[in-house]
Amino acid sequence: MLSRDVVAGNLIFSEGDRADAAYLIERGVVEIAVSRDGHRQVLALLGSGEIFGEMGVIDNLPRSATATAVEDCRLVEVSGEQIQQVIARSDPFFAELMRKLVGRLRDTQNALLQGRETVGLHVSDFGPGYAELVRERDIAEAIIGGEIEPYLQPIVDLGEGVILGYESLARWRSDRLGLMRPVDFLPLARRTGLIRRIDLTMADRAMAICARLGSREDSPFVCINVSAWLFQDYSLVDALRRMLDQHRLAPARICLEVTETMLIDDLDAAERTMDELHDLGLRIALDDFGTGLSSLGILHRLPFDMLKVDGSMVQGCQTSARQRGMLKGILDLCGRLDIEVIAEGIEDAGTARALLDLGFVMGQGLHFAPPVQAEQAMASWREGVT
Ligand code: CMP
Ligand code: MG
Repeated sequence: MLSRDVVAGNLIFSEGDRADAAYLIERGVVEIAVSRDGHRQVLALLGSGEIFGEMGVIDNLPRSATATAVEDCRLVEVSGEQIQQVIARSDPFFAELMRKLVGRLRDTQNALLQGRETVGLHVSDFGPGYAELVRERDIAEAIIGGEIEPYLQPIVDLGEGVILGYESLARWRSDRLGLMRPVDFLPLARRTGLIRRIDLTMADRAMAICARLGSREDSPFVCINVSAWLFQDYSLVDALRRMLDQHRLAPARICLEVTETMLIDDLDAAERTMDELHDLGLRIALDDFGTGLSSLGILHRLPFDMLKVDGSMVQGCQTSARQRGMLKGILDLCGRLDIEVIAEGIEDAGTARALLDLGFVMGQGLHFAPPVQAEQAMASWREGVT
């Protein structure tokens, strides 16, 4: 979903054209007109908040009218494919009603043409669906424009305090909206499928960063967050293989973190993908362990190499014997399964100390460093090693 700017007087599409997109008018006025018997008739003038071009997309027939910008227009272009997907996901009877309505409008259009002299301008309130549509367009443009970028947070050796690796975290730095964290834009990105592009773009950039962090076996590793859905997508493996080749990276220095594993509905497919990712040499971590998003069951079912224990399990462990018992149990379990463990969300020295005493080796959290822009993190890293 992208913006399209059309200068006043320019044609947007013609009657009879193939319909491949619908448009929301963000700004400007669009004239809808038809030609009958050599006579041109304006059907409507549509202003901000109106949608046009939806009919041909809904019923897959040619454009019922010609659309021309009357003023300079800014349009949000919604692809036909996307609308078709929404219709396909909706109740089949509801979809049928939509097609019927469009058909009826086409049938009565000719009758409506008779005897109308003047045409009024239609304007709508921007309804609740509008904000989401515009935000989706903003996200798509942010991906293309590189506004969504990886921030890095170090993962340290709890005993020595040295940096072992980094987690790459997506941040959206928007001139208009400020700095946004994944919770501000990922839910919508997931609903609309944009998540795939965000994840793959972030993976590519994180690999470029990893290559710049050195090429030795003990150079820092980089953890990349990917959506659990991607594990049911066969193209993921090829995409990552190409990126690894391009950045000439030792695959063992990349760890994919997956969360929301409860959303994986085809565990067999996910397991096959994980096997292929392992064949590539990548490591795979179960993220946010201890929250509702990630369970013991999934650890049993899928072959993870690493477990990231959520901050909610970690914070306050120095005062709670019960919590320490849980953490010790997790360490023990992972030891038996040959799974490495990282404690997340460490916010103070006392917690870091308690985790070390329990036997944790790796940790991450504000106590060590917040996520910062990649360039800044790499500058501190270089200072640290020289
Ligand atoms: P579509 O047929 O894809 O392309 C032409 C568009 O013009 C059509 O979708 C509608 O969005 C719009 N349109 C057609 N007839 C009318 C009308 N009578 N009033 C307002 N808009 C119309
Ligand atoms: Mg993570």
